[in-house]
Amino acid sequence: MSDRLDTQISYWDAAAATKTFTHPLHLPWLAGIGKQAAILDYGCGYGRTLDELERHGFGNLTGADISPAMIERAQLLHPAMHFTTLDTPPSMPSPDADFDVVLLFAVLTCVPGDDAQRRLIAELHRVLRPGGILYASDLLLQDDERNRSRYDDYATLNGGHGDASYGVFRTGDGAVCRHHSREWLTALLADFEGIDSRTVTVSTMNGHESTGIQILARKAALT
Ligand SMILES: C[S@@+](CC[C@H](N)C(=O)[O-])C[C@H]1O[C@@H](n2cnc3c(N)ncnc32)[C@H](O)[C@@H]1O
Repeated sequence: MSDRLDTQISYWDAAAATKTFTHPLHLPWLAGIGKQAAILDYGCGYGRTLDELERHGFGNLTGADISPAMIERAQLLHPAMHFTTLDTPPSMPSPDADFDVVLLFAVLTCVPGDDAQRRLIAELHRVLRPGGILYASDLLLQDDERNRSRYDDYATLNGGHGDASYGVFRTGDGAVCRHHSREWLTALLADFEGIDSRTVTVSTMNGHESTGIQILARKAALT
């Protein structure tokens, strides 16, 4: 899968002014996290989840995104928060073990390639401290006719599923996105210890109801 599809910056820049994101933040999962914990929202968009965290008293918040327009909107809405535009994703300009918690909300869906997803998760593992928490929310493979036919259409146009995993598709407005099997997500997060997971129904950025999964996991603590 071409690297270009794993960083569709012009699509996300155009989306910055128009899209609303909705994956729900399940606050009970953060109940044990101190209010001054260093929290990174990777692929933060316009800062929606950071805004919710701030309203619940969290005070050490950082957002990172590939889209300069998303970061501009986020910074305008939240002048006191710290935001970073990623020039060479997934690389974060942060030392190892810099964060206590990393959120990854509806970002894997924007990164269709297996290898790009593996690099992204490895980078988040690097910047999390031992014992730190990863909270991911993303979309599962959908079983309805509309989705199954767009997975098949994309595979057909690209010479079969090959190394492009089943579940990649083109949206009506031109992004290449991916839905995931539970097995793939388990394999992708194999370096983390699972804590909890939940199935959620979300409205996608293009207004369709879809089934998502939220995963709470921990980077192994030092022994
Ligand atoms: C569907 S939006 C979700 C935004 C936010 N996490 C939320 O839930 O409100 C996906 C975001 O991921 C960003 N993104 C896409 N590919 C990325 C990548 N390779 N690295 C970092 N951010 C990326 C997009 O610019 C966009 O802001």
